[in-house]
Amino acid sequence: MREELSQIIQTYLAKIKQAKTQNELGEIYLELFGKNGEITKIPKQFPQLSIEEKKIIAPLFTRTKLELEKAVEESKEKILEEGYKKLNLEKLDPKGQIKKRQGHLHPSTQFKKEIVDLFQKLGFQEIFAPHVEWDKYNFEDLNIPKDHPSRDMWDTLYVDTSRLEIDPGSMLLRTHTSNFWPRLMSKGKTPICAMSFDRCFRYEAVDARHAHTFNQFEIAIVGEKGKFISMANLKYLSDYLLKGILGKEAKSRFRPKYYPFVEPGVGIDCLCVFCHGKGCKICSGIGWFEIAGAGLIHPNVLSATGIDPKEHNGLAWGFGPDRMLMLKHSIEDIRYFLEGDLKFLQSY
Ligand code: DAH
Repeated sequence: MREELSQIIQTYLAKIKQAKTQNELGEIYLELFGKNGEITKIPKQFPQLSIEEKKIIAPLFTRTKLELEKAVEESKEKILEEGYKKLNLEKLDPKGQIKKRQGHLHPSTQFKKEIVDLFQKLGFQEIFAPHVEWDKYNFEDLNIPKDHPSRDMWDTLYVDTSRLEIDPGSMLLRTHTSNFWPRLMSKGKTPICAMSFDRCFRYEAVDARHAHTFNQFEIAIVGEKGKFISMANLKYLSDYLLKGILGKEAKSRFRPKYYPFVEPGVGIDCLCVFCHGKGCKICSGIGWFEIAGAGLIHPNVLSATGIDPKEHNGLAWGFGPDRMLMLKHSIEDIRYFLEGDLKFLQSY
């Protein structure tokens, strides 16, 4: 057994010295101290030894064991040190070293960029208006007086102002992006050629087609009367937008429609991208989708914001991009836009 021990120590001290990685060292450790390891096996033979032999072998065994353990520990330290030295010498190349795991913009934000870029090319200025808004800008200046029945067109979320010195019902979550025009118009600078793409809020019963929070893309142009603002411009801009996002085949049509802040007012429909007007399941057999409300800005709105309606006129247009995006990508449920579901987000 004495020979056996000296054999083990010779072989394994050499092996330990040669080990270059933690893994190699781990394997050597197991060969020695694992369940059937060379060192583990030795004490199992002790019962066969005489007491005299035990007195010699046991301390020898302990020394051998300790020496091998120490050698493993030292080798471990050495391998670690060498690893650190190598790291210090290496140049850090973050691009090459770090595994790429790129995120991307939310599909609604990608769509927003696409649309805003299209209109920036035409010279439209991007405007931001508050989400929490005064009744004045969301309704009153837009020719929707307090208690007027037309207010029923919007299911409005009012802000509870009972703890503030503010008239009840005067603060709300804006129901449309149209709030940006009275804010901009009352600054007194014309001509105006502006756009806003942003969130709006309504008290909706949420389902696959309705959300309490949704996007609108709105444009407003105000300028000298008779010079360049007409329903023809509105038609041109509608086609410009639809062709820009859906391709050359896209077409729009106007239907008369009432909105208090425009006169005349129209609903804009888009030719169904699936059946090209023939009528299919997706457009409920109509061949067209309603995508926007539009019209020439009502003289009362111009007056309310300090612009003389005898000298100026304007056009405006509010478009529902979420619905358009659903059609473009065959997305069945509007709630996906708000849920942050990774599977959904990663597919766009
Ligand atoms: N603000 C309207 C809504 O959310 C949409 C709209 C209609 C916007 C006509 C306009 C417009 O600019 O001219 O229901």
